[in-house]
Amino acid sequence: MYTSKIIGLGHFVPDNIVTNDDLSKLMDTNDEWIQERTGIKERRWIKEGSGETSSSMGAKAAKIAIERSGLTKDDIDFIVFATLSPDMYFPGCGVQVQDLLDMPTIGALDVRNQCSGFIYALSVADQFIKTGMYKNILVIGSEYHSGGLDISTRGRGVSVIFGDGAGAAILSRSEDATKGILSTHLHSEGKHARELVVEGPSIARWVPEYKNNPDDLSYYPYMNGTFVFKNAVVRFSEVIMEGLQANNLGVEDLDMFIPHQANLRISQFVQRKFKLRDDQVFNNIQKYGNTTAASIIIALTEAWEQKKIKDGDLVVLAAFGSGFTWGSVIIRW
Ligand code: UT7
Repeated sequence: MYTSKIIGLGHFVPDNIVTNDDLSKLMDTNDEWIQERTGIKERRWIKEGSGETSSSMGAKAAKIAIERSGLTKDDIDFIVFATLSPDMYFPGCGVQVQDLLDMPTIGALDVRNQCSGFIYALSVADQFIKTGMYKNILVIGSEYHSGGLDISTRGRGVSVIFGDGAGAAILSRSEDATKGILSTHLHSEGKHARELVVEGPSIARWVPEYKNNPDDLSYYPYMNGTFVFKNAVVRFSEVIMEGLQANNLGVEDLDMFIPHQANLRISQFVQRKFKLRDDQVFNNIQKYGNTTAASIIIALTEAWEQKKIKDGDLVVLAAFGSGFTWGSVIIRW
């Protein structure tokens, strides 16, 4: 039986930094409110007209990850791309990365699981490797939120949270069963789909309802923030324990917890609940906001770059978000 191991990591964020003070010039908000409720100080937003998209950022992150893995683009067997902000309604971003990186005609799959997108993508890639079907898989999480937000006082409860960026990992076959991805656990609860949603751009709705109604708010993300928050803290805790227990491990075995960067208060709640020290949790939402499917892989890449993850460490990734969907990945590094 094979195991899968992360052998390369990379991330890319746009240069354009948008601070909380910048936002207060566009809507009725302020640095104090944003920092107090979310921990966010600034985020990156693609500059309009730059031509950057989820695919282009994903390709840039992928290039770095491939280079660091010691492989070439021709060694990659499959692409899994997680995003909620694809460049086009269809086809997905995976095929665009295949083209942008001039890769062979390998398969490319898009994952539509919002904040849990990278966890789902990693799990899919892990299964393909464990069955022996593929050897090296490029797994990407990338989001271009800023172009689709309601950047006005009307949309402030949502738009101050989200940022743009991308990350990528190379997952590779290994025969060392003691290292790599130990398990993945995935969940969903579709009855809450409308608590965090963009209803607008859909074949079912846009033509009849939106064409003559440019002010329709369903083009913008809607979030029942408090409800999402309350579910997040419960599901995060559950799915972390589920993953640890499946491997006969406990919280005391955990070396590094990398949560989806939804809100610093959610990460801190989980940290307190499990009595984790500051050096056992990695957060970078302060710099990037919530980059949805990209957040875990950007954070994992930065934690690794900053040498906060060592050989043999037990690393736990967990996410919760729109769907609702949630999941965890347990890795022996
Ligand atoms: O990544 C996907 C998963 N997402 C999450 O996990 C997010 C979970 N939810 C949250 O993080 C929080 O609910 C938010 C950060 C989104 C909001 O925080 P909150 O403490 O739940 O605030 P609220 O929505 O209850 O709003 C409180 C007040 C309201 O004013 P009133 O009605 O009390 O007068 C809002 O209108 O804050 C107001 N408000 C703002 N004020 C200044 C909302 N957004 C802003 C803003 N600036 N940006």
